[in-house]
Amino acid sequence: MRVEKVRDGVYGITENLEGILFEGMWEMPKGVSVNSYVVKGEKAAFIDGVFGWDGTRETMDKALAEMDLTLDDMEYIVINHMEPDHSSWIADLDSLGKELEIYCSKESAGTLKAFFGREDRINIVGDGDTLDLGNDRVLHFAKTPNIHWPDTIATYEEKSKVLFSCDAFGSFGKLTHLFDDEYTKEEREEFETQQIRYFSNILGTFTPMVGRGIERVKKFDIEVVAPGHGMVWRENPEKIIADFERYVSYQKGVAKEKVLLLWGSMYGMTRKMVDAIEETLKEENMDYVSLCVTETDMGTVLEHAWASTGIIIAAPTYEYKIFPPMASVLDEMGRKRIQNRLALYAGSYGWSGGAIKEFEEIMKRNMMKWDVLHAMEYNGTPLEEDRKEFTEAVRGLCRAIREKVAG
Ligand SMILES: Cc1cc2nc3c(=O)[nH]c(=O)nc-3n(C[C@H](O)[C@H](O)[C@H](O)COP(=O)(O)O)c2cc1C
Ligand SMILES: [Fe+2]
Ligand SMILES: [Fe+2]
Repeated sequence: MRVEKVRDGVYGITENLEGILFEGMWEMPKGVSVNSYVVKGEKAAFIDGVFGWDGTRETMDKALAEMDLTLDDMEYIVINHMEPDHSSWIADLDSLGKELEIYCSKESAGTLKAFFGREDRINIVGDGDTLDLGNDRVLHFAKTPNIHWPDTIATYEEKSKVLFSCDAFGSFGKLTHLFDDEYTKEEREEFETQQIRYFSNILGTFTPMVGRGIERVKKFDIEVVAPGHGMVWRENPEKIIADFERYVSYQKGVAKEKVLLLWGSMYGMTRKMVDAIEETLKEENMDYVSLCVTETDMGTVLEHAWASTGIIIAAPTYEYKIFPPMASVLDEMGRKRIQNRLALYAGSYGWSGGAIKEFEEIMKRNMMKWDVLHAMEYNGTPLEEDRKEFTEAVRGLCRAIREKVAG
């Protein structure tokens, strides 16, 4: 629990998490931070959950003292979102011996009851509602449904012009500093990959709603973006907003000028074609990443898939269908709505093939709308003519990506 001043009267409380799976399933090679905030008016408000709080009064008193506050000054809790990474601390509130008023959406109130049996001192807020904390501190609420649950709202404080955006504008990556201007250019570039990873792993399914939520919060005069995960943007809040708008737009199919080559191979027959594909991508000076589907976690696949305009799938036939690990990763891509990509498929078979048929079924049932420029199955080891055919397809893909990205 690290306390830092964000602006006059506004404090951030951050906790880094490492060595766990987010949502019980997503690997986080760089960890993640969970951020909550306190706004000081005549009375003070917590914005989102104080992660890392051990549930004792003593620890809370100590943290509040760093903000020149006591529990007596605290009156309100704003719940932007009930996912337990932001809300689990509520279970321990009664141990404080202080009755706080909760402000949250109608949907959050339902979940609050379901998760923690909490039904009292709840005030429902909707789009455009405000909460006056006194001393010119007024909180404004905006509904941002499905960033990331149906309950989610964003909160804006008008005097400090800080937007508490919760999962919107969030990122993986633990914090070594709180603010954007405290990181080097290289560190910020690394954070960009963590932003895309977060977006694709956590928010991808809800991309159109993310776009609508961004439009809604942009009506505020924002000088600081203070998300629930990742750094606080005070030097360049426009950057994180523009980044998220860009990630939303990637779903339409124009992402980076880049290829994700995702492959699997049991005995090396498909692998031989993968080698030829990589050679061609290098010759074409195409930025690409090559990931073995059985050795790569799903989060990494999604991170690169989201950012790539082109995707090449290479996998053999297995029991009349596609190599099973590839089938499940393709399905996950479908669920996370990786749509409208330019794509190629290649794979080896032993006797009759069948992988392409299932590949097409997966595309269809997930409504992925990939533009598959070429798909080929070849028998056993790729012959010279097979390589030639697919190399031409890879060159065609590179041309199509460049045309698409150039608009
Ligand atoms: C368990 C298993 C199931 C297979 N099922 C099929 C199949 O249903 N149809 C087919 O044409 N080949 C099938 N094959 C053969 C492989 O597709 C073939 O050996 C191919 O060259 C493997 O490519 P790889 O070395 O890249 O994995 C199967 C192979 C294995 C090991
Ligand atoms: Fe969430
Ligand atoms: Fe979250």
